[in-house]
Amino acid sequence: MDDFFKGKSKAKKVDTSRANDVASTVPWVEKYRPDSLNKVCSQSETVNVLRESIQSKNLPHLLFYGPPGTGKTSTILALARDMYGPELVKSRILELNASDERGIQVVREKVKNFAKTMVGNNANESHGASLPPYKIIILDEADSMTEDAQAALRRTMETYSKVTRFCLICNYVSRIIEPLASRCAKFRFKPLPKTEMRAKLTQIVDGEKVACTEEAIEALIKTSEGDMRKAITSLQSAYHLSTTGKITDATVRDMTGVIPSTVIDKLMDAIQKDSFGDIQSVVDDLIYDGYSAAQILQQIHSHVIQNPEFSSLQKSKMALVFGTTDFALSEGADEQLQILSMNIPTGANYHFFKEGVKPMWEDSANANGGRWLVEYPRRVEKDINEKWINTMLALIGESYQDSQNICGIVFSNRKTCYRFSMWTRSPDTSQGIKEIGETFLKYLNRDKSNEIESIPFNRHVASRGAKPLFEAKKQ
Ligand SMILES: Nc1ncnc2c1ncn2[C@@H]1O[C@H](COP(=O)(O)OP(=O)(O)O)[C@@H](O)[C@H]1O
Ligand SMILES: [Mg+2]
Repeated sequence: MDDFFKGKSKAKKVDTSRANDVASTVPWVEKYRPDSLNKVCSQSETVNVLRESIQSKNLPHLLFYGPPGTGKTSTILALARDMYGPELVKSRILELNASDERGIQVVREKVKNFAKTMVGNNANESHGASLPPYKIIILDEADSMTEDAQAALRRTMETYSKVTRFCLICNYVSRIIEPLASRCAKFRFKPLPKTEMRAKLTQIVDGEKVACTEEAIEALIKTSEGDMRKAITSLQSAYHLSTTGKITDATVRDMTGVIPSTVIDKLMDAIQKDSFGDIQSVVDDLIYDGYSAAQILQQIHSHVIQNPEFSSLQKSKMALVFGTTDFALSEGADEQLQILSMNIPTGANYHFFKEGVKPMWEDSANANGGRWLVEYPRRVEKDINEKWINTMLALIGESYQDSQNICGIVFSNRKTCYRFSMWTRSPDTSQGIKEIGETFLKYLNRDKSNEIESIPFNRHVASRGAKPLFEAKKQ
């Protein structure tokens, strides 16, 4: 008897979870898209103007622009629904997305065919009020259309203006050609404020009966930076990912790849301690844990910018380093090297020596040798990372003919300058060493900024100030 009941209750459980599965395939961004202008939050000026134009049935061509996930697509769909009612709306709007073929010819054809079927302003039974005598054509992501296609649209817009209204949607208004933009009423969509995001997320959490902590909602708001779509998508993914059935800020963090602040603090401590070994071990841990360099960069950035301990000058200097690193990352540089090189503290040396060779003059490999040397004033800071990376890659890539003569390279971050040196095994004026100097110079000059004309070669044993043995000149 007991088993019988157990069995039954078990079966019931499976059923409900299957029902949930089906429901959960609908993306929440679609499920909770506002279906009326009244439900669009935050963009109140835009919504008020649009509501008035519905009432006066005098809708201009529209241009919506602003960052993603701020309600542009939702607003035009909501407006259409308010205007035509839920049944007719489908036949009165034509939506063309960036993924659709949108060459000049296609747009003309589609628009023409859609516009050709005239719309009467007869009263609609189910909707009650008389309907506006035009259809709406939505061109989503219009900024990805070529200028030619945009130019061609001008004419189409005018030809069919009696029976259609266009709504162009884009992220960057500057990418819409002026003659097109000037034909539209422009509306800017702003990132959603925290309170609005909180309200919407809470509504979804309640609607879906999801167990979710306050902190998790705050974490979602923080990581999505006013992008409602991102927040909702992250919430749904967190819901699917959470094994415990409860979404906490840790679930959100795991999913969005946000690094816990304790880890960032550890990295910042290591940087401020000026200890290269410490930094290296924290960086290794970070990379091992699979955090992306871009994320690390972004979090250190906000950590630094919000920190009152740093002066504005310090912050600007660091921002330059972040900028260079970010650029290098987007160009595909090695993640670990980037995070490391960004952190080389003042006073530190960064060595890269062959196996078995110690980075000191006393080592037998170096004892009789010398070094090519170049010093950059600190004002060229922004290019230093790149120079170091170039130099190191040239060495790893065996770009030097006489590479067995090379012992290693050293980068020194000094208060007054940045110093690069290339250490060699022998001190003689053989062609091999000259070639090393010239190649070294070539890689340092590769980014064409702060080009150096020539560099000196000194013997390790020579006393400071002694004349260099010879020079390598730019080729
Ligand atoms: N202002 C808003 N009011 C209500 N929901 C919004 C708003 N902005 C975005 N959303 C939510 O985010 C999702 C994506 O919005 P969408 O209109 O497609 O953004 P956009 O077109 O600006 O990139 C929608 O499904 C909606 O649930
Ligand atoms: Mg959109």
